[in-house]
Amino acid sequence: MFRDLFVTKPVQTVAQADAEAVANGVTLRRALTARHLVLLGIGAVIGAGIFVLTGQAAAVHAGPAVVLSFVIAGFACAFAGLCYAEFASMLPVSGSAYSYSYATLGEFVAWFIGWMLVLEYLFAASTVAVGWSGYLNSVLSDFGLGLPSVLASAPLALVDGSFQFTGAIINLPAVLVIGAISILCYVGITQSAFVNSIVVAIKLVVILMFVGFSLRYVDPVNWHPFVPPAQGDGHFGWDGVIRGASVVFFAYIGFDAVSTAAQECKNPQRDMPIGLLGSLFICTLLYIVVSAVLTGMLPYLKLNTAHPVTTALDAYPSLRWLKDVVGIGAIAGLTSVILVMLMGQPRIFYTMANDGLLPAAFGKIHPKFQTPYVGTVIVGIVAAVLAGLLPIGVLGDLVSMGTLLAFATVCVGVLVLRRTRPDLARPFRVPAVWLICPAGAIACLYLFGRSFVDNWKWMGAWIILGLLIYFLYGYPRSKLRR
Ligand code: ALA
Repeated sequence: MFRDLFVTKPVQTVAQADAEAVANGVTLRRALTARHLVLLGIGAVIGAGIFVLTGQAAAVHAGPAVVLSFVIAGFACAFAGLCYAEFASMLPVSGSAYSYSYATLGEFVAWFIGWMLVLEYLFAASTVAVGWSGYLNSVLSDFGLGLPSVLASAPLALVDGSFQFTGAIINLPAVLVIGAISILCYVGITQSAFVNSIVVAIKLVVILMFVGFSLRYVDPVNWHPFVPPAQGDGHFGWDGVIRGASVVFFAYIGFDAVSTAAQECKNPQRDMPIGLLGSLFICTLLYIVVSAVLTGMLPYLKLNTAHPVTTALDAYPSLRWLKDVVGIGAIAGLTSVILVMLMGQPRIFYTMANDGLLPAAFGKIHPKFQTPYVGTVIVGIVAAVLAGLLPIGVLGDLVSMGTLLAFATVCVGVLVLRRTRPDLARPFRVPAVWLICPAGAIACLYLFGRSFVDNWKWMGAWIILGLLIYFLYGYPRSKLRR
C-alpha cells in the first residue's frame, strides 16, 4: 500500500491531454491568449494585500522597510513562479500544483496539495469577498447608503479560539458578490476573461493615479529610520522585515491561478510562462512603488488602519477627492481576485475528478458553455456560505499557508522531474535549477513555519479532514491505480 500511495501519473503532451478530455466527454474551450493570461494573473494578485495589509505590515512589523518585505516575498514568489512556468508550459492541464505533484511526487502528495489548493482558491475567494463587502459599505456610507451592520458583517467571530455570535445576521454583500461572479464563471471562460480585463484596467488606472498624484507629497524624512530598531518578536528590526514578508505574501497569492487556465489556452507552451512571470513582474513593481509612496506620505505608525491608502490620502486635503476613486479601484481589485479564484477552484476539482479522486460530477463540462459547471455551482455555494458567516481574519492565514505549501511542492517537483524525465521537451526551463528550486522551497517552507506556529490547530484539523476524504473516497477510486 505504501508504494501505491506514491504512484505517479505519466506526463501528457497537449495533444494527449486534449484527447483524454475528449474521451471524458465535452472539453474545455481553448480561447485564451498571452494577454488574457497576464491580465488574469494581475486580476488574481492585486487585491486585499495591497489595499489592506500594507499599512499593517508597515505599522506593526517592518516600518518603511515594508518595501524590503515586498522584495523578499517577491523573490520567494519569483522562484516559485519560474517553477510554475516550467511545469505549466510542459503539462498543459487545469490542475496546477495538483497535477504537477501527481506527475512527480505521487498520488498522495498530489491529493494533499490539491487539498491545500482549496485553502488557496476557495477560502481566498471567501476572504476577499468579506474585504470587498467592507470596502463597498464604506464607499456607500460616504453617500449615506451604507447597509446596517447586521446585514453586512459576520454573524460569527473567533474569540479566544472559539466561535461566538456577534448579533449580525449575514454578510449579504459578500454572499451576493460570490453569487454574481459564480454565474459569470458558469457562463463561459471568454466572458469571464473579458470582464476580468475591464476590472483589471480600472484597478491599474486607479493605482497609477494614486502614485502619480501622491508622489509630490512624499517626504523622505518619513523613510528614516528605514529599518526601525527591533522591539522583539517580529516587531521591527530585520526580524520584523521577515515577519512583514510573511504578512505581505498574501498580496502575491494568485499569479499561479494562471496555470489553472492551461487547458483553455490557445498556445500554452509559449503563453503560460508569459502569463505567470509577466503578471508577477508587473505586480511586484507596483507593490514596491505603492508601499514606498505610502510610507513616504505618512509616518509608518499612522498607517495601521483597514484602509491605509485612503488614510494616507486623508492626511492631505488636496488629495481627498482621490479617496472615492481609490475606493472604487479597491472594489474593482477585489472583484477580479474573487473572479479568478472562483474560476480556478472548479478547474482543479475538474482535474481531480477526471483522475477519480473526487466524484465524477466535478468533471462534468457544460455542453453549451464548455465550463465545469457542476463544480462552479458547488464551489460558489460553499464560498458564499463561508463568506456570509465568517470574519476575514480566520481565513486569511490559512490561505497563505496552503499556498506556501503548494509553492514549495512545485519547486521540489521541478527538480524531481528533471531527474526522472530529463528527456521531456521543456518549452520553458528554470535557469540555475539547482539553486533556484531549493531556494524557492526553503523560502516558502520557512514562511509557512512562521504562520504554522500560530495556526496549527486549524491547519491540523484541515489536514485530518483531507486525509479522511482521501482514504475513504479517493484512494479506493483512483483511476490511475485501477
Ligand atoms: N493576492 C490577493 C489579494 O491580495 C489574494 O487580495
